[in-house]
Amino acid sequence: MAVKKVFVSWDIPEIGIKMMEDAGLLVEVWKGNKPLTQEELIAKLRGFNVCLSLSIDKLDGTFFQQCAHLDVVSQFSVGYDNIDLSAASKAGIPLGNAPGAMTEATADIAFGLMIAASRKFFFMHQQIINGAWKVNPPQAFLGQELRGKTIGIFGMGKIGTEMARLCHQAYGMEVIYHNRHPLDHPLSFDAKYVSFDDLMAESDVLSVHAALSHSTQGIFDIKAFSKMKSTSIFINTSRGGLVVEEDLVSALKDKMIWGAGLDVTNPEPMRADHPLLMMENVCVLPHIGSATVEARAEMSRLAALNIIEFYKSGKVVHPIGQ
Ligand code: DGY
Repeated sequence: MAVKKVFVSWDIPEIGIKMMEDAGLLVEVWKGNKPLTQEELIAKLRGFNVCLSLSIDKLDGTFFQQCAHLDVVSQFSVGYDNIDLSAASKAGIPLGNAPGAMTEATADIAFGLMIAASRKFFFMHQQIINGAWKVNPPQAFLGQELRGKTIGIFGMGKIGTEMARLCHQAYGMEVIYHNRHPLDHPLSFDAKYVSFDDLMAESDVLSVHAALSHSTQGIFDIKAFSKMKSTSIFINTSRGGLVVEEDLVSALKDKMIWGAGLDVTNPEPMRADHPLLMMENVCVLPHIGSATVEARAEMSRLAALNIIEFYKSGKVVHPIGQ
């Protein structure tokens, strides 16, 4: 059998590359200082059997039409809203991803953003940089404490569950959640399933962990924010597309909600003069949920494993879109 060739669309941790090479695959990695455009990626993939993609790659109808020769695509992420699943299936190309690799890393970011927003970390840091640290009046810059409050989870999957566990164990927070269906497995803490409207109305902190899909796109709009407590904090570490960002700005300006912590924005990157970056009770990070040594190494391992297993058994380990 001819040696199979894998193209990795941007430099990832060595562990996965080594695994694929040890399995007899020929691997080429893009090591440029910026990602390839879709056109460049398609051109590169001529002569390759596999694409190991990133969530920033646009794998749409054009991609699958022009790369129909690929045996398999394995993605270095859990999210796959960058992939047109029906175009992949039409081209007969199986897809894999790397779920579970960044559960703790992303939950840590959600938890950190919750604390950071509740105590205005980023704004206060900016005050020092701007030379504005004077004597603090006793009633200025007051934050909110989290002990005993209610954490609402939208999307109680692996990451949502870890965020809920952290909130429950650190601050004794009550946990409520909304999914399409109640969980069918027990958790190590009490969690109450509620409707979407009740989640909005009862959460002191609302943390978003659901995937971006047709049914979640723009679900957090002004109507949703208007149902929330005026003291509540909105956290999103999932995908920016779940939020209508101008509605979030209005909800904060009009004091419908109190604060927000975001690791994902819509679009990404966020423009440097975005109004959310100027707000006292808002903390924004540049999509670093999975950016730890441990998570990225595991993502590399899982993405490689899909490809190796595909050539052994005809099936990826972590299939998507099936
Ligand atoms: C994921 O794996 O989906 C992370 O958000 C990185 O894109």
